[in-house]
Amino acid sequence: MIILAIESSCDETAAAILKDGEILSNIVVSQIDIFKTYGGVIPEVAARSHLEAILPVIDKAFTDAEITWNDIDAIAVTHTPGLLGSLLIGTLTARTLAILHDKPLYAVHHLKSHIYSNWIKEPSSTASSQSQKDETFPTFPLLSLVISGGHTQIIYMKEHNSFEIIGTTLDDAIGECFDKVAKILGLPYPGGPSVAKAAEKGDPDRYKFPHPRIEGLNFSFSGLKTAVLRTVQKECGVGIDFPSHDLKNLLNEKQIADFSASFQKTAVDILLEKVAQAKTEHPDAKSIVFAGGVSANSALRNAAKKKFASSSNDNMPNNTVALFFPSHMFSGDNAAMVAMAAYYEIKSGIPPTDPYSLDISPRSAIA
Ligand code: KG4
Ligand code: ZN
Repeated sequence: MIILAIESSCDETAAAILKDGEILSNIVVSQIDIFKTYGGVIPEVAARSHLEAILPVIDKAFTDAEITWNDIDAIAVTHTPGLLGSLLIGTLTARTLAILHDKPLYAVHHLKSHIYSNWIKEPSSTASSQSQKDETFPTFPLLSLVISGGHTQIIYMKEHNSFEIIGTTLDDAIGECFDKVAKILGLPYPGGPSVAKAAEKGDPDRYKFPHPRIEGLNFSFSGLKTAVLRTVQKECGVGIDFPSHDLKNLLNEKQIADFSASFQKTAVDILLEKVAQAKTEHPDAKSIVFAGGVSANSALRNAAKKKFASSSNDNMPNNTVALFFPSHMFSGDNAAMVAMAAYYEIKSGIPPTDPYSLDISPRSAIA
């Protein structure tokens, strides 16, 4: 089963070709350099950049995979959620190609793709993470922490293609929170990796930020962002009406590193506390699967391994759980994960979509 997948939901134009879940080619053209100047994504500019890049990216995917259209069994594309104009370029391209080449078309939810990045088989020459080297994959039932620029959710999956959202953010997504804190600290776009880098030299215990008291498995991150802003203002000796975009001029390198590390530690603690609670409430979960851009965060990966490592941890009964993180190459947006999600849809007998009527949606839930 050879699948061509296309991803264009935000600011990466990507195409990949996978054979039975194994990568034949994987092309990602990022618009980061364009949006660095603006400090964030501008939807209209993103859509135009996708339009320029999409056909060359698909061509390169074919060249690298050394196959032709005759070899393709199906096309997969992200149709929701994401930026309207960006989604439109990917879906219109996929629909046109599906009609032109008479191939079945699979429309895939972006968060589903992020979860399925944990099933990607890398070619053995580039395999990096332990899970992929050993080709061990998550087992069901599982809990997935989906953490991206637009989402923060805990999803319970009893089997492939079964998604129950058991926790979600009530306001900001965690990636958005990283990005906003980066702006306050004057760190470059995209904020998550910048904060993570600055945090490497920082003291995570210098500044204390409160954990939100949110019932159940839901999250809230807007309070944390405000707590960082207020603490920075206090540290700089200015009032709460001082513009946040001018604070960076008053901070030294040490303060920026310490704020980054302290914020990151709090964010990671909040995320993992809820995952631990989810595991307690769902003791049958055999795997915890991390997914989405923020899952690249090394502090999160290390803290998760520590928290869930010991089966004799008193706070974590039935703590025999395997952790899965996507390989760094696949934690951000890419098309290989879209092909992977479609592959499991096909295996589950989910029918293809109609290429003449497929629509996009900027927002929609996975389940
Ligand atoms: O999944 P993704 O690439 O795109 C969306 O679907 O949103 O996630 C992007 C988010 C951004 O907010 C980015 O700042 C964050 O993931 N991110 C990180 C790291 N790498 C990317 N956040 C924290 N630590 C990182 N290392
Ligand atoms: Zn994403």
